[in-house]
Amino acid sequence: MDLNNKVALITGASSGIGKAIAQELDSAGMKLILTARSQDKLEQLAASLKNAKVLAGAITDGQMPYSLLELALKSYGQLDVVLNNAGIMTVGAIEEVDVDAITQMVRLNVEAVYRMAYIALKHFKQVGSGFLINISSIAGLKTQPTYGAYNGTKYAVEAFTDALRMELAGTGIKVASVAPPHSKKPGL
Ligand SMILES: NC(=O)c1ccc[n+]([C@@H]2O[C@H](COP(=O)([O-])OP(=O)(O)OC[C@H]3O[C@@H](n4cnc5c(N)ncnc54)[C@H](OP(=O)(O)O)[C@@H]3O)[C@@H](O)[C@H]2O)c1
Repeated sequence: MDLNNKVALITGASSGIGKAIAQELDSAGMKLILTARSQDKLEQLAASLKNAKVLAGAITDGQMPYSLLELALKSYGQLDVVLNNAGIMTVGAIEEVDVDAITQMVRLNVEAVYRMAYIALKHFKQVGSGFLINISSIAGLKTQPTYGAYNGTKYAVEAFTDALRMELAGTGIKVASVAPPHSKKPGL
């Protein structure tokens, strides 16, 4: 795929992997839609890139995927790639784990990924092409003690991606997951 002038939407673009992907795709000539909650960080990043628009807000807000698609179409007239990257890792022993923090993680790592994916894929089906990439984790392929809830969110992303990949085979729409190894300590 020639990336030049194609349009990519990146969630969780204000730091870490999402920010690094934004910088790489900018270097490849892509036009970008960047989202996360930290408006100042997004604007700072966008100012350092050639062609990026930002929309700050919680991706767990059900309206957000629609607003992001609308911004892409209004700004650039197309949307070619969606990177579902926003995610957090909340882990811990049973005695210590914060159940509310776990359910927040599920909303971000699973529900928001499903919402963004389905809104993007409905659009991709209308136009007959598109690329959805879900950032999973090595924790979506292998479990370990105290990581169960996080493992579950990333296994969900892997299963979702695989089923979509089969459903969309031959349509011109591509779906893939990326499972990076962990470079961070839990809670960071
Ligand atoms: N780093 C690793 O070692 C590693 C390994 C394997 C997989 N992963 C996965 O890779 C992805 C990115 O991880 P990372 O390490 O780069 O994380 P990070 O540096 O903590 O970045 C997370 C991004 O998500 C955004 N975010 C968090 N909560 C949000 C919410 N409720 N609504 C909208 N945006 C939200 C954050 O921005 P705001 O705070 O501004 O909203 C930030 O841009 C995650 O899905 C993670 O599970 C990471």
